[in-house]
Amino acid sequence: MRKPIIAGNWKMYRTIPEGRSLVKGVIEKLAGFDEVEVVFCPPFTCLSAVKDLIQGTSFGLGAQDVYWKEEGAFTGEISPLMLKDIGCDYVIIGHSERREHFGETDQTVNLKVKAALAAGIKPIICVGESLAQREAGETESLIKRQTELALQGVDAAAIPRIVIAYEPIWAIGTGKSAGGSDANEVIGLIRKTVAGLFGNEPAQQMRIQYGGSVKPSNIKEFMEQPEIDGALVGGASLEIESFVEIVRYETKV
Ligand code: 13P
Repeated sequence: MRKPIIAGNWKMYRTIPEGRSLVKGVIEKLAGFDEVEVVFCPPFTCLSAVKDLIQGTSFGLGAQDVYWKEEGAFTGEISPLMLKDIGCDYVIIGHSERREHFGETDQTVNLKVKAALAAGIKPIICVGESLAQREAGETESLIKRQTELALQGVDAAAIPRIVIAYEPIWAIGTGKSAGGSDANEVIGLIRKTVAGLFGNEPAQQMRIQYGGSVKPSNIKEFMEQPEIDGALVGGASLEIESFVEIVRYETKV
């Protein structure tokens, strides 16, 4: 049985005081709730403050990016060892915003995935098609290729530690989410691709999330799907109420 994982990707939002009050509120409201693994992915500047607040709880900490070298003359970059040092359990890799605005490619995603794993940090790898790609009927081939390239050279034993987030680009920040069964189909394809590369057992253990305009009103539709193991939440993770309602999706009408 895969434990669902719901992660909040704060993107480039929240100062340290704002981040602290958000996390405090979420922790208070979710006390004793452990059916879902909950991960905060704040900006680098908030990682330490969030780590202090979640110390001794079951909440996880994730960064939003990482470089693939351990150290060196790479001004502005953060290494996997530094993320480990600050207490990160997870790191988001290959978010479409990084692919679009910062030149992230399938090759750099792959380097980052391997570097994160080597440092003991679990990658949350983002894949997803644009509207043009979807309309051109390229979703399947693109998702398959992104998945294969991201995982090239990864050890089969590491697969259960990896999370993949299927985030259709046209659904991110648009209020227009994929349908539950559509998302389930693509996520099933990702799992099939992973099974083809590494065998069925690790593929069955790997958690695959949906991301893109996830809200309290639609989370259940995704979580009900057999292939979907959680969500990567952007905008709705920035407010205590909406994030808590998403995490408690079973009890939300
Ligand atoms: P929204 O939930 O704001 O659509 O963002 C999704 C996302 O990009 C999470 O990584």
